[in-house]
Amino acid sequence: MKLQHQLNIAFTTLLLVIMGVAGYVIYSLILDLLIQDEQRQLRQYGEILVNVMNEEDGTSQYAELLQDQDLQLFLYDRNQDAVLFSTMSNQIVKGLWENNDFADDSESLWEYGDSNFVTSRILFYPQGTGIELILLTPMNDIQAVQRNFIARLLLVFLIGAAVAVLISTFLTNKLVTPLSQLKWQLKKIEKRQFDDIERISATGEIKEVEQSVYEMAEELKRYMHTQQTFFQNASHELKTPLMTIQGYAEGIRDQIFDEKDQEKGLEVMVTEVNRLKKIINEMIVLAKLDSEPSAYKRTQVKLSSVINQVEERALPLVNEKEIDLRHHVEADITLMADEEKLLRALLNLTINGIRHAKSQVIINVYNRNQMTIITVEDDGDGVPEDLIPHIFHRFVKGKNGETGLGLAIARAIIEQSGGKIEVTDSELGGAKFEMTFPE
Ligand SMILES: Nc1ncnc2c1ncn2[C@@H]1O[C@H](COP(=O)(O)OP(=O)(O)OP(=O)(O)O)[C@@H](O)[C@H]1O
Ligand SMILES: [Mg+2]
Repeated sequence: MKLQHQLNIAFTTLLLVIMGVAGYVIYSLILDLLIQDEQRQLRQYGEILVNVMNEEDGTSQYAELLQDQDLQLFLYDRNQDAVLFSTMSNQIVKGLWENNDFADDSESLWEYGDSNFVTSRILFYPQGTGIELILLTPMNDIQAVQRNFIARLLLVFLIGAAVAVLISTFLTNKLVTPLSQLKWQLKKIEKRQFDDIERISATGEIKEVEQSVYEMAEELKRYMHTQQTFFQNASHELKTPLMTIQGYAEGIRDQIFDEKDQEKGLEVMVTEVNRLKKIINEMIVLAKLDSEPSAYKRTQVKLSSVINQVEERALPLVNEKEIDLRHHVEADITLMADEEKLLRALLNLTINGIRHAKSQVIINVYNRNQMTIITVEDDGDGVPEDLIPHIFHRFVKGKNGETGLGLAIARAIIEQSGGKIEVTDSELGGAKFEMTFPE
């Protein structure tokens, strides 16, 4: 069932229950209140009559006076237990006399046949005379008032309920409309129509959900875009060496090369196969970093030892390029990280530095403002301005570039260690890669 209908039903049911209880309470109280009110009125009226009759010398002229009143009443003598006078018909007087005990003044309701009477009794002065004026009102009259009252109450309730249902429909509609609009936006996300997504005006929690959905869509769009470029770049990067290999392989098979060219061809094929292997290995590393955070095993790593290993592994390239590779490591700095992977990240940066340096590469490790900072800088030409915003993206490479995955891998590792990496200009003249880790 639709949420709006559920809310409306819940609200209406609640309203009906409240009205039902209120109605029942009012219904059961109203008769008592009406009876009490009637008795009060009868008493007031009766007291006036008794006063007048007392002034007019006892009860002698009562008959005329009482007859003139449009009232149902008795004059009752307590001492003789006898009715002296009544404005009611003999038959009713007789009936009431037989059914009720006139002497019992605690009984305020009298019965006769199907109908009841509300009574009110006033004693004449002086009390010794024992004469009482008893005024009566048929219950039917009071019940008619009660019915009238209840009918009006019902009408008010009905109007109230109708207004409440209207308000409830309006409010739930206001509440549910943004939700159904959100549903349509989610359908668009499902169909990947990211550009058609519209913002929804809502308030409170729904606004928060809407904001999250919007951010999620943006993130998904970004993710799909990077995936797409990744695959495009990857297939392009894999295709180039494969086509070279294919060209030489077919040439050798069809014997179109002379011996010298054949040898060169085989040489190129081996180089390209190695390049393919490297690309594929790096892609696997990246995919693992993305999909298996559990493969990242953090331990307390001593940075001086990691830097030494980096230097050891970079040694062949250092010698080949005749580069001066130095390091300054503040004593005993450690980091919570996966040692093997941190080594890989720093090696990528160092090899980049050596490859682009003119004569020197410096690695610094120090603590500052409760941060551990590692920098790798060189005296090369630096990173071109236009490359800086994309340099950590996959397959992005500049001149003298190889696969363009080294920095992407380094960034993934640094971020998994809780750090940040950025590139700036080095005082040596080249590029400076700076990694910061909270201590
Ligand atoms: N120290 C540096 N000085 C100048 N340019 C650099 C430096 N380091 C990286 N770059 C530029 O950034 C690009 C991307 O570097 P990255 O390490 O990601 O890829 P790569 O070195 O080309 O290939 P590999 O995957 O083998 O590392 C490089 O191609 C290069 O143009
Ligand atoms: Mg590199």
